[in-house]
Amino acid sequence: MSEPLHFPAGFLWGAATSAHQVEGGNTHNDWWRFEQRPGVIVGGRGSGDACQHYRRFNDDFALAAADGHNAHRLSLEWSRLEPVKGQHDPGAVAHYHEVLASLHRHGLTPVVTLHHFTNPLWLADAGGWESRSAIDHFESFVRFCAREFGGEVDWWCTVNEPEVYAFRSYSEGVWPPAVRDDSRALAVMANLLEAHGRAYHVLHSEDRIDADGDGHAARVGFAKHRVQLEPLRAWNPLDHLQAAIEDRVFNLAVESAPITGTIDLSIPGARAVKRTPGDLKGTLDWYGLNYYTRWRVQSLAPVPHVVPPGTPVNDLGWEVWPAGLEQALLAAGRYGRPVLITENGVADAHDSIRPRALVGFVEAMHRAIAQGVPVLGYLHWSLLDNFEWSEGYHGRFGLYGVDFDAPERTRTRRTSAELFARIARSNALTDAARSLV
Ligand code: GAL
Repeated sequence: MSEPLHFPAGFLWGAATSAHQVEGGNTHNDWWRFEQRPGVIVGGRGSGDACQHYRRFNDDFALAAADGHNAHRLSLEWSRLEPVKGQHDPGAVAHYHEVLASLHRHGLTPVVTLHHFTNPLWLADAGGWESRSAIDHFESFVRFCAREFGGEVDWWCTVNEPEVYAFRSYSEGVWPPAVRDDSRALAVMANLLEAHGRAYHVLHSEDRIDADGDGHAARVGFAKHRVQLEPLRAWNPLDHLQAAIEDRVFNLAVESAPITGTIDLSIPGARAVKRTPGDLKGTLDWYGLNYYTRWRVQSLAPVPHVVPPGTPVNDLGWEVWPAGLEQALLAAGRYGRPVLITENGVADAHDSIRPRALVGFVEAMHRAIAQGVPVLGYLHWSLLDNFEWSEGYHGRFGLYGVDFDAPERTRTRRTSAELFARIARSNALTDAARSLV
């Protein structure tokens, strides 16, 4: 018997998704086009029909609600809502109204992301996020969404992981537009951060409706992928230096930008970006934390991040380190904003390590709260197995498994879904939940 770990009243428990990864049929964005190229997706299979969530959302939300979730993170697919520049698609608009109505009906507070990696083709073809015009186009899209959906949404997440998007797409070149140039990656990251600031003001000025009657209208944050970085060899000063450089550009510079108002990005050998847009300072109502893993950094080596032998890893080879969530929360909490865990999870097709890891994550979160970090909620990545970007259908993150070979994309409830349900329903980690590990 152990004492239950209770969470604050009103704590948000739910799952996180993004449109392109679950909906299927997102033919008007840059990812869809990229997926058609041979060799870019593990397993060779593009997003295709994905989880068919575009038409099955109601059943999927019913699963989440039955499991005691009270919140759900999703993204609005820009390329559906504005398939042609300046022209909004009434069918897509009606669809997302239905989606939001279904969430409310199921008692799930929507947390809505406005940019989750995908871009309409027209935006990509006009220079994508390297062009400063993307900031203006995004601002218009956000204004449209705030006016259209503001009566149904209070929790807005402007951009998802600007640092991951920039590095994967413009430095590593494994995501569209497959560029390998650190200077261009920094320019893109800066534009996304600036776009966040613009979106913040638009959402506050256009969305004044308190959708769930809790005394708050728009509450605006962004989602930051916080990797915990450590030197591989404690005795090696160059490993320390390299870890510090990466921590600065990947974590500190990004999370501090909406607080201080200054964008200050640099990597050795790349063109640095430093600017202070007039409207960026103070544009974070909450810090969205995505936490998965730690990188142990090795300097002067062809492979910069190493997982030492014997370390527990997920199906994608990422270290599974639940205690790191406590550290990430303490770091995120330094900025004086409440923290919402917008993603956390494990790629684990057989659900063999996820249950134990989930307990570890929830314990780590409880320790951080006990140390004073104001944590608003926990959104697990993900409700369903889904299209894991360049990993294709190889990374299985769902509380529910999905059979992508079955025409009806059958959902299978994993032990982790039951474990999560026991935690969410009681707003506590109890022995009843622990007994499933
Ligand atoms: C995040 C991303 C999600 C999901 C997850 C698991 O970086 O926001 O879309 O793919 O990682 O890899």
